[in-house]
Amino acid sequence: MTEGQGATPGRVAICPGSFDPLTNGHVDMISRATRLFDRIVVAVLVHPDKAPLFSVEQRVAMTREVFREQSQVEVDAFDGLLVEYARRRGAQVVVRGLRAVSDFEYEMQMAHMNRRLEAALETVFMMPSEAHSYLSSRLVKEIHRLGGDVSAFVPPTVQAHLIKTAPKGAPYCRQT
Ligand code: PNS
Repeated sequence: MTEGQGATPGRVAICPGSFDPLTNGHVDMISRATRLFDRIVVAVLVHPDKAPLFSVEQRVAMTREVFREQSQVEVDAFDGLLVEYARRRGAQVVVRGLRAVSDFEYEMQMAHMNRRLEAALETVFMMPSEAHSYLSSRLVKEIHRLGGDVSAFVPPTVQAHLIKTAPKGAPYCRQT
């Protein structure tokens, strides 16, 4: 289903984010959301504030690959206001992850603002497994950029894409 074709039956939740790149923490959170909602739309932001490492096409493709066996999960790109996108997709809920207290202020501000913009849209916060509580796309990119091994933090398909962009001679790229 593509954007704008109307509402999907059942409880539809949107998991929006930059996903630059998708981490095991994102996968954990999205997988948990599939237990609560009938359909999950993973909405990849086209233009994050900073220049992304991966194009939106790459971020969507990697995320689709990871969830290819979960028919409940759809991956789409979006631009513009999240509340407008959610309305077009017939979603009642936005799902966001809370890893630590430090996430709370930013997330609360967004949730309140989205509610002010669209009162019918609820934000639900989910906690990823504590094993992922320290994980972020920013740290994954930094470790990767400095030649470190990120295989424990991202799905294999994401790691493969990262290795393609790895600095030549990075230690973990020489292993195989
Ligand atoms: O993974 P991120 O970068 O923390 O995700 C942030 C995201 C995509 C959820 C947020 O930037 C967003 O919703 N952007 C769309 C534009 C919008 O609606 N802005 C107003 C938010 S209150």
